[in-house]
Amino acid sequence: MYVKIVGTGSFLPERVVDNFEIARMVDTSDEWIQTRTGIKTRHIATKETVASMATEAARKAVADAGISPEEIDLIIVSTVSAEQSLPCVACEVQKALGISQVTAFDVNSACSGFITGYQMAAGQIKAGLAKTALVIGSECLSNGVDWTDRGTCILFGDGAGAAVLRADCAPEELCIPCVLHADGSQGEALTCSLGHGKDKVPYDEYYRMDGKAIFKFATRKVPEVIREVLELSGHTVEEIDYFVLHQANKRIIDAIAKRLRQDESKFPMNIMDNGNISSACIPMLLDDMNRKGMLKPGMKLVLAGFGAGLTWGGFYLEW
Ligand code: COA
Repeated sequence: MYVKIVGTGSFLPERVVDNFEIARMVDTSDEWIQTRTGIKTRHIATKETVASMATEAARKAVADAGISPEEIDLIIVSTVSAEQSLPCVACEVQKALGISQVTAFDVNSACSGFITGYQMAAGQIKAGLAKTALVIGSECLSNGVDWTDRGTCILFGDGAGAAVLRADCAPEELCIPCVLHADGSQGEALTCSLGHGKDKVPYDEYYRMDGKAIFKFATRKVPEVIREVLELSGHTVEEIDYFVLHQANKRIIDAIAKRLRQDESKFPMNIMDNGNISSACIPMLLDDMNRKGMLKPGMKLVLAGFGAGLTWGGFYLEW
């Protein structure tokens, strides 16, 4: 038996920035960005913050789960882009939802953050320390984007996704087919010295990235970790209905599908509309699929992420 996701929600800022607008800022084109990444548009926060977006996504996930906020006893927020260091975003969400008696903390493992959050929450549920967990990925990556660097500014967007986790069995019957990895020796491939708000970030603290290195790492490591997850859960790659992957680049996802020898239709995407929103991508995509009615009870999913750190990981989920 597995820890289930019983509700999903997401939030996107209203302002949409298309590739043509980016091409007015840096030397690029809609054609180049679409061909090399799959991205057409991204949403950029104007007044929204990591905490406000996390709260909106959380409210929707709680409503979708059909529970009252008071039932939540654990809140984990994954983010790399909070405007403030303290208090943590999870406490801001807890305050906004008006709930007490809750454990709340943030995690930072970049674009693998939702996988990390799931593993933390599922572990707490299995240990009997929590019953109903809210796991949120919320990012305002535009806080750290250098709008003069065409190698990065084309990729990133803002938004939040949330999931409510619960088990429908005794904690001791649970297994958690989740795998996480880290390799700090490759950390230089994607760095940011932390943006504290749009106007205060000195130039060299923006995101700096070795795009080719990340591309190679992701296409090699994600298929590997998916196979590790499947070995733990006892399933074959063919049995999986959907692979819900971090949305960094359409070509990365296509390459992973090819390596796994699975049809592209098993790899849903929303990167075209949203770009890369780090730890928010996976819960947002799951919410899209949920709302479109793509997820039926009993369906088998593998969720997998990768990113700065470097970190990568995945877990098996039954809907
Ligand atoms: N518009 C036009 N040309 C661009 C460009 C842009 N936005 N960005 C780079 N180029 C140019 C380069 O300068 C280079 O030109 P040159 O051949 O004259 O030197 C050429 O396009 C090819 O650059 P390259 O870096 O090899 O492109 P790429 O195919 O690797 O695509 C990324 C670049 C960033 C889109 C791609 O490497 C990528 O998506 N990597 C993964 C990044 C990622 O996922 N990061 C987040 C981790 S979670």
